[in-house]
Amino acid sequence: MEEKIPLPTRGEAESILNWANTQNPGIWANHCRVTARAAEVIAGFCALDTERAYISGLLHDIGRYSGVRALHHAYAGYDLLKEKGYAKLAEICLSHSYPYQDIGAYCGEWDVTPAELSVITSYLENAQYNIYDKLIQLCDAMCSAQGVCLIEKRIVDVTRRYGFNDFTLKKWNATFSLKEHFDEACQTNIYDLFREEIRDITFKT
Ligand SMILES: [Fe+2]
Repeated sequence: MEEKIPLPTRGEAESILNWANTQNPGIWANHCRVTARAAEVIAGFCALDTERAYISGLLHDIGRYSGVRALHHAYAGYDLLKEKGYAKLAEICLSHSYPYQDIGAYCGEWDVTPAELSVITSYLENAQYNIYDKLIQLCDAMCSAQGVCLIEKRIVDVTRRYGFNDFTLKKWNATFSLKEHFDEACQTNIYDLFREEIRDITFKT
């Protein structure tokens, strides 16, 4: 029996995202909507909680409400959702960028205070990812703001924008392992669940 966690309703989660997008308007909000939709579809095929999957996808980058920030967005989202009473959901804000579970895999500006960094680091050192952490890591890696695409396209785009380091290959390999994990759990190639969209978004954008 799956653990039940406090969650906002779908409508409440959409309102939180809409509010966040007024604080820092950007295509990031659409990336969240695409991620939510993909997570819901895959969850439906894996007999997971589709509502939890959708809401986790919708709010994983909610920390972007705090402005055009880098590492800070993870902490800001975690803090916001925890404050609202969604402590478990808040962890998605910390876990989603780390299919390879090490803060060293982070590329970009370290725009956090020492206290914020210590929250993120200690989470990553101790967390045991659940299936929803893994699902959102996967969906984050196959969802642009335009739609669902091949992982290859999305991770190369992210790497071009944020750079790479000694952990990048490990992170890429961990991402492809997630795809294999969900292919097996869904008993299908998950790309087949989005076949037309992946073709359009991968090759036309
Ligand atoms: Fe994301």
